[in-house]
Amino acid sequence: MTRRLTLVGLGPGDPELVTAQAVRALNEADYFLVADKTGQHPGTADLIAMREAICARHVTGPWRLVPVPDPERDRAGRAEYTSAVRDWHEARVRAFEQVLLDNPGDAAVLVWGDPSLYDSAIRVADRIVERARVDVVVDVVPGLSSVQLLAARHRLVLNAIGGPITITTGRRLLDDAAAHDNLVVVLDGTLTCRRLPDPSAWRIWWGANLGSPDEHLMAGNLDEIADQIWSRRTAARQSRGWVMDTYLLRRGQQPHR
Ligand SMILES: C[S@@+](CC[C@H](N)C(=O)[O-])C[C@H]1O[C@@H](n2cnc3c(N)ncnc32)[C@H](O)[C@@H]1O
Repeated sequence: MTRRLTLVGLGPGDPELVTAQAVRALNEADYFLVADKTGQHPGTADLIAMREAICARHVTGPWRLVPVPDPERDRAGRAEYTSAVRDWHEARVRAFEQVLLDNPGDAAVLVWGDPSLYDSAIRVADRIVERARVDVVVDVVPGLSSVQLLAARHRLVLNAIGGPITITTGRRLLDDAAAHDNLVVVLDGTLTCRRLPDPSAWRIWWGANLGSPDEHLMAGNLDEIADQIWSRRTAARQSRGWVMDTYLLRRGQQPHR
C-alpha cells in the first residue's frame, strides 16, 4: 500500500511559529523522522530537543520520533564540494529509506525552517521515490524560514524597491558580493563578511538563534560592528555548543524599508 511521506517545515525553532498546516500534518503522521547529527556535533542534541518541544506542544495523542543518524560528510581533501555533498545526500537517502522500510505507516520528516531553502529533504525524498524500494507519495508543507524571521525581527524589507535579493552561503559570499548589492547569507560559520575587501561600503543586519530564548540581534555599519558580532557569535556558540546565524548585507546607504 502506498504510504505518505510528508516533509514538514517546522519554522526556525519557536513552537509559536509553526503553521496550522504543519500542525495538521504532524497529527496525521504515524511517526516523525529527524536527521540526527549528534554523532558528529554533540551540541546539536539541543536541536532535536527543540523539535521534540514543537511536537509536544502541537501533537495531540502519543507521538514517536525516529532519529536518523546523519552520515559523516567528507570534508577533507575533496576539491569537488558539490560531489562530496552528492555522496553525502546518497548516504542520507539510504539511511532514511532503511528507516521507512523498518517502520510501517505514514511518516513526516521534521525539517528545520522551510524545506525549500538549503535543505536536502526534498532531494532525499525524490531519490527515495526514484529508487522505488519504498512505495511513498511525497508532500511538502512549507515552514517559516530563518530568513523571514531575520527580516521580521529587524523590520526589514529584504529587497530594495523593485530590486533583487540574493540568498547565498558563507562559502560563496566573497564572489557573490562582487556582483550583488543586497545579499542574505546563511551557512556561514566564520562570518565571512569580515573578509570583504570594502567593509565600509556595507551595512549588516544580523541574527543568531532566531526564534529561540537566546536570540541575538545586531545591526549597523559592517566596518563598525563586525568584530562585536563575531564576539557575540562566539559567546553564543560557547554557551550552547552550537549557534545558527544569518544576516542581510546591503551595499551603500540604500533605505532598508
Ligand atoms: C541548512 S540551512 C537550513 C535553512 C532552513 N531550511 C531555513 O529555512 O531557515 C541552516 C542555516 O540556516 C540559518 N538558520 C537556520 N535556523 C536559524 C535560526 N534559528 N537563526 C538564525 N539562522 C538560522 C543559518 O544560517 C544556518 O547555518
